Amino acid sequence: MTISLIGKSIAASATLKINETAAILKAKGEPIIHLGGGEPKTKAPIDAILAAAAVLNSGEVWYTPADGLLELKQAIIRYTEEFYATKVSPQNIIASSGAKQAIMVALQAILDPNDEVVFPAPYWVSYPEMVKMCGAIPVVAYPEDGSFQPTIEDIERVVTSYTKAVIINSPNNPSGAIYSEKFISDIVQFCEDRNIYLIMDDIYHRLIFDDKRPINCYKYAKNDIENSKLILINGISKLYAMTGFRIGWAVANKKLISIMTNIQGHQTSGPSIVVQKAATAALNGVQSSVESLRLTLQNNRDVLVDQFKTFDGIKLEKPQGTFYSFVDFRAYYKDSTKLANFLLDKVRVATVPGVEFGMEGFLRISTCGTIKEITEGIARIKWAVDPNSPNELFIGNRKLLRDWL
Ligand SMILES: Cc1ncc(COP(=O)(O)O)c(C=O)c1O
Repeated sequence: MTISLIGKSIAASATLKINETAAILKAKGEPIIHLGGGEPKTKAPIDAILAAAAVLNSGEVWYTPADGLLELKQAIIRYTEEFYATKVSPQNIIASSGAKQAIMVALQAILDPNDEVVFPAPYWVSYPEMVKMCGAIPVVAYPEDGSFQPTIEDIERVVTSYTKAVIINSPNNPSGAIYSEKFISDIVQFCEDRNIYLIMDDIYHRLIFDDKRPINCYKYAKNDIENSKLILINGISKLYAMTGFRIGWAVANKKLISIMTNIQGHQTSGPSIVVQKAATAALNGVQSSVESLRLTLQNNRDVLVDQFKTFDGIKLEKPQGTFYSFVDFRAYYKDSTKLANFLLDKVRVATVPGVEFGMEGFLRISTCGTIKEITEGIARIKWAVDPNSPNELFIGNRKLLRDWL
């Protein structure tokens, strides 16, 4: 069988792989605690459900324009005005099947083979693979101080004449860090000065804690939108707990959006009308579910941070947003893949290895579950990892013996 070079270079999604393994074990009746997930477990807003049901009931489930329905774009225009204080027109917007597709289509529209795309570590697992799928080269900027906060110098160090774009994701998956306002202002100016595309992946922008305010990249842009290489990515998956609906969008200059529309038109056509109607209703409807999710996640984050305080040698930078924490286990284990497999095998806790996000020795631990899952999951991890743990642990009526170091 002949497989393309690009095809062979693409790794399976680590997070999807973990979900699959955990689901198989759970189906076998294993007492799995899934702390590896990347989606809230609350229900989608009722407005969205009713809107989707109404299209289905009508039976008129047909193609839409390749860049999305006008009514969805109008909801996105309002959203952009409300949260970014920026007026855009429908031709500045493309609605895609998830933020993932919006990013992918943007990359396909701007990258030539061997172009470079820079993003800071830790990074979302899909960025390197998406860049590779365009025949381009992912380049990671490692913060020099080892923290989760990149500086403009960290980025500048790896930018070359081949750099076509920088991708920034704040609040960040996997660290939960919010990049400083200074960094966002610096990176917007830096990309404008160097004439580089800046993809701002704002998918978690309202899931932030401790009275923080979302940072608006447009505030620092000097170029008007038609002369700008800023591409703003957003979506409904995380904020509205609508991961399975698959709607995300990009806001950018009209020329770029028209190229992205051509690409998407041949790739998938417009997203399903059913989910576009649902997304429109979610954006236009009652917003209390976003605030309630945010408060739940903040509470879960507090519980997780408290649990880890009882854990010697573990380092954790308090997440400021998202539903992830990126925990430094290097005092116990250097190899995060081995550690994640060990935890799944011995104590049935699913996590995601940090190496997949560009940082070895860390695990991404999610706070999407219940308080019980978080506390019990961390207690099991502690028992497995800490050499001072007692010899036995009960999971339900199953007795585990600590027969390793
Ligand atoms: C940083 C980041 N960007 C984009 C996405 C994609 O979201 P969507 O479900 O809208 O495709 C995710 C999903 O995990 C993400 O974590």
